[in-house]
Amino acid sequence: MAGTITFTMIKPMAVKKGFIGPILAKIADGGFKIKAMKFTKLTVEQAQKFYEVHKERPFYGELTEFMSSGPIIAAILEKDNAVEEYRNYIGATNPAEAAEGTIRALYGTDLGMNAVHGSDSDENAIIESDFFFSKMERF
Ligand code: RTP
Ligand code: MG
Repeated sequence: MAGTITFTMIKPMAVKKGFIGPILAKIADGGFKIKAMKFTKLTVEQAQKFYEVHKERPFYGELTEFMSSGPIIAAILEKDNAVEEYRNYIGATNPAEAAEGTIRALYGTDLGMNAVHGSDSDENAIIESDFFFSKMERF
């Protein structure tokens, strides 16, 4: 059975451009319930740990520098089949290829600065949620 939670981040450029409010409104419109949320900033070491699966990829350095370059919103979202539903809702990794009306199409800057993160599996949704939130921070 598909899981009911996914993990998201509003990435530094979207925060910088003032898109926290519109993105949170869009998340609510999509029927995703916020179970946990914080405004924080990753160190480069934390970003490297979070994106460890991409360590061998050519964009790892650029990605981890960017993700630690400014504050982010981190959140756990709840909905039936949350991982797949949210990935469909945010659109393709490259905002230029993301379907019209998706979060990345609306608020993304480019491939590297694509507005939001979304977990890619139920297993990673749990790992990523645990990276940011204790039990006391979830409702
Ligand atoms: P995310 O993890 O952020 O939700 O994005 P995703 O699953 O759609 O894409 P993924 O393959 O996991 O890549 C993670 C992030 O790395 C950046 N990226 N840059 N320069 C490049 O070729 C490249 N490819 C990926 C993107 O910001 C992507 O969200
Ligand atoms: Mg990913």
